[in-house]
Amino acid sequence: MTERASRIVVLGSINQDVTVMTPRLPAPGETLMGTALGRSLGGKGANQAVAAARAGAQVAMIGSVGSDAAATALLGDLAAHGVEITRVRRVEEPTGTALITVDGRAENTIVVVPGANGTLQTLDDADLAAIAGADLLLVQLEVPLAIVRAGIAHAAAAGVPVLLNPSPAQPLPTELLAGVAILVANEGEAAEIGPEALAAIPHVITTLGARGATYVGAAASFAVPAPVVYAIDTTGAGDSFTGAFAAAWARGDSPLSAVRQGCASGALAATRPGASGSAPSRSEIEALAAQTYA
Ligand code: RIB
Repeated sequence: MTERASRIVVLGSINQDVTVMTPRLPAPGETLMGTALGRSLGGKGANQAVAAARAGAQVAMIGSVGSDAAATALLGDLAAHGVEITRVRRVEEPTGTALITVDGRAENTIVVVPGANGTLQTLDDADLAAIAGADLLLVQLEVPLAIVRAGIAHAAAAGVPVLLNPSPAQPLPTELLAGVAILVANEGEAAEIGPEALAAIPHVITTLGARGATYVGAAASFAVPAPVVYAIDTTGAGDSFTGAFAAAWARGDSPLSAVRQGCASGALAATRPGASGSAPSRSEIEALAAQTYA
């Protein structure tokens, strides 16, 4: 029987990543010479949308970009990766930009100027219909909290499971978390939410970087080690985990299989430069997962 592609709606940010490679990260007040400069598709929303599409899901994105040349290039990249972009607004604010420094140990620093992402305030009828028709709503925290809240409330009312990646970390109202079925957070983000609120979320995945990830749910709890890889750029590796995990979850894989695929996707992404562009395909993910977890 042919497998139906799962439908995921991503409500989130789209940025132009301006990335500088340096031997080490600069100290405050220090000037360093970089070794390379690149511009590419980024933003946690776009990165997760691309990662989910590359991992086999049918993905539509709700977001906002400017009317500048950067936006045209980013929308072209999203579409080329198979992400449906008809729900992305074009506004007069500049497209969101992330200034990223990556050092010789694959560590990074990131500063985001939200620009057009900050104008995403309301969901229209077509957005609401797209969410209600999805198998999963995937959200992060790089767009205004009001629209994140509205998207979660609408999905929850329509019986569509919500996966929240609470990044960047910030305090969240209890009623927002009440609509979340699945949380994928790193250790800092999980700490910001706190143990009491975490305990009320049905499925909690904590990503641990090169150490893998843990899953806690009502029926099981387990840890999954990450595949061992040579990392060159960890930018977007967490997004690659989340997108691939979401694709596997939305098509009905078990929690263990979905976490393994997330770990494989994040590990592969860390071996490649950039954020969205580093997301592996479903066949690459499955090959590494099969080899690692045999
Ligand atoms: O998670 C990585 C992403 O964070 C980058 O692509 C950058 O745009 C920021 O949103």
